[in-house]
Amino acid sequence: MIPDPVLIAGTSIPGLADAAAAELGIQVAPRTVARFPDGEVQVCLDEPVRGREVVLVHSTSPPVNDNLMELLILADACRRSAAARITAVVPYCGYARADKRRGRREPITASLVAQLVESAGIDQLITVDLHASQIEGFFRIPVDTLTAVPTIVHALRDRLPEGTVVVSPDNGRVAMAADYAQRLGCPVAIVHKRRVSGSDTIVTDLVGNVSDRPCLIIDDMISTGGTIARAVDALLAAGARPEILVAATHGLFVGDAWRVLAHEAIREVIVTDSVRPLTTDRRLWTVSIAPVIAAAIRETLSGGSLSELYHHVPESHAGGLASYLQSAPARHLTPLEASGRR
Ligand code: R5P
Repeated sequence: MIPDPVLIAGTSIPGLADAAAAELGIQVAPRTVARFPDGEVQVCLDEPVRGREVVLVHSTSPPVNDNLMELLILADACRRSAAARITAVVPYCGYARADKRRGRREPITASLVAQLVESAGIDQLITVDLHASQIEGFFRIPVDTLTAVPTIVHALRDRLPEGTVVVSPDNGRVAMAADYAQRLGCPVAIVHKRRVSGSDTIVTDLVGNVSDRPCLIIDDMISTGGTIARAVDALLAAGARPEILVAATHGLFVGDAWRVLAHEAIREVIVTDSVRPLTTDRRLWTVSIAPVIAAAIRETLSGGSLSELYHHVPESHAGGLASYLQSAPARHLTPLEASGRR
């Protein structure tokens, strides 16, 4: 039994927080999050948290700085209100790509963020497909990195064209591509990319045979869309069929991303609801990670183990769609149906 937990949602992913709470059979606690006239974040908890287990659900997605401050301020409010313990569920962690210095006189912002999270009083962090697993080492508090791969694979399984090759769009995603490929029974190809700026990359090599094959490009996140677009060009140049699916855990789609992704070879783009989608592009499908998040919260609060969640899709995904998407209020998205296409 969970001892009187309080689930508090930030403003970034209220739909996912509601869905996780529904899976847990609890209510999202009332709170006020607003802005002062100068833009500062204003928070008030509208229910006591004294002596209770608090779960904060909030992604530090764009606008990253605003959402990061909101997370820290919500945690501070809980700590000062004598919460017994604060678990932050942050499906998408902003600044995770700032995990190393590429030259001199640069910060490691992911490490700074880890210190801020700890200083705010957060006792444990649960996240999903963290950009690089070693980022966990920046934290002294426990960090559990869940994966959306089984959930996305579950949705993809009946949709993949025969002979599909799973493609990693860069060296950093090879392990994730291998995971997808193993679960889907597909071969793997690797695009080698080099980043030339924050928004631009160039492809230098392609390893693997994609000739006359449909492809599934996977990634942890899609931001500007540049990485995927470069990979599509490289695959087509190598003779891949113009029949490409894209799957990523976090769909940020910043700026002109959908224009960058407007290649006719890209048939579908599948992401999770770790970030609130801000597009109505007809090629976008969303699958919910609410059951995974809910299961992780349940196990964490009851002192159970999360290891099963790294491998299997939670029960409520069985049979197809996440219940969240079936009952979601208007999100301008068509539900992803495991059987049949639109
Ligand atoms: C890079 O290492 C990441 O895994 C993603 O490939 C990248 O961050 C995606 O960004 P964008 O869509 O801007 O290319």
